[in-house]
Amino acid sequence: MRAWRFHEPGNIANLVLEEVEKPQLKPGEALVQLECAALNPADRYLVQGQYPRAGAPPFTPGRDGAGVVVEVGLDSRFKPGDKVCLLGGGLTGVSLPGTLAEYAPIPEAWLAPVPDGWTFEQAAATLTSLTAWRALVVCGKLQSGETVLITGASGGVGTAALFLAKALGARIVALSRSEEKRERLIAMGAAAAIDSGSPTLEKEVRAAAGDRPVSLVVENLGGPYLEKAVRIVAPEGKIIVVGLLAGLTATVTIGLLIHKNIQIEGMSVNNFKAEEAQEAWKQIVVLYAENHHRPPISKVFPFEQVQEAFAHLLSGPMGKVVVRCKE
Ligand SMILES: NC(=O)c1ccc[n+]([C@@H]2O[C@H](COP(=O)([O-])OP(=O)(O)OC[C@H]3O[C@@H](n4cnc5c(N)ncnc54)[C@H](OP(=O)(O)O)[C@@H]3O)[C@@H](O)[C@H]2O)c1
Repeated sequence: MRAWRFHEPGNIANLVLEEVEKPQLKPGEALVQLECAALNPADRYLVQGQYPRAGAPPFTPGRDGAGVVVEVGLDSRFKPGDKVCLLGGGLTGVSLPGTLAEYAPIPEAWLAPVPDGWTFEQAAATLTSLTAWRALVVCGKLQSGETVLITGASGGVGTAALFLAKALGARIVALSRSEEKRERLIAMGAAAAIDSGSPTLEKEVRAAAGDRPVSLVVENLGGPYLEKAVRIVAPEGKIIVVGLLAGLTATVTIGLLIHKNIQIEGMSVNNFKAEEAQEAWKQIVVLYAENHHRPPISKVFPFEQVQEAFAHLLSGPMGKVVVRCKE
């Protein structure tokens, strides 16, 4: 079979398409013939050697994917022919072989049926919805009627957080640097969309929030955005730190944390146990069905164009970047 692998960490150009042995199943795994994989910034960090607990090279990245079961072990709850998606958050594409391949052995605990009416492209993008759910519901304890600020709102996690928060009854203030994407965020249901780079950002967010100040922040960017979130969030508010695209470190004013009684909580989708991820996914699928919505796809690339797909991810697309693993 063919798989993308890197032999030493470094630039994304280190990923090469190779002919490799078809994987042997271990107990508890199902062999999935992948139809699609979806990219996440974490895949890039992994190739660059910046991801904790990554598998030893030569290694195939890819944390998101959907396809068809072709082989199962004893006592499996799946059978050959079942259409499945991988619940991003397990070890696949971290220390177990990932989804940028024609076949992947996936621990069954992390597989779910492709939801009714979903394409493989849509079902390949679970990691961002599970991340957004963990930030909003598990860590953020979101209540209907709250105002949520989402930084980096046009990205994979941001658009999933926007959809889920709105479906759960929240009002959303979204940040993006792009005017075109801000218009699309409003069309997707944000109450306000504000330029991340605005020199008057804090004032604009406060004005947009009005009499219901921001009580929860889904913080995808880090660096100066974490500092701004501390100034914006209301007393007793929570900031859930998800990403670090704009900076690995931040300076926060400790007096504000104390005075406003703010919580800042780091969160990782990797902290889901498989059964928790399955339960969260069931609830997420119900919300997508009730609202006639699907994870937005920015572009689908052929299997041979994984390098181009990573370049597209870096360009700040709106929605998921998907790779078709099977013709
Ligand atoms: N903690 C976890 O478990 C977990 C899980 C998944 C992802 N993450 C992390 O969360 C972050 C977001 O992931 P994602 O999949 O949503 O990424 P993404 O799809 O690449 O989108 C992030 C968006 O943020 C904006 N952005 C990027 N760099 C920026 C910068 N320097 N300054 C201001 N805005 C910037 C861009 O939007 P505009 O161009 O519209 O401004 C971009 O589209 C990443 O750091 C990722 O590694 C964490």
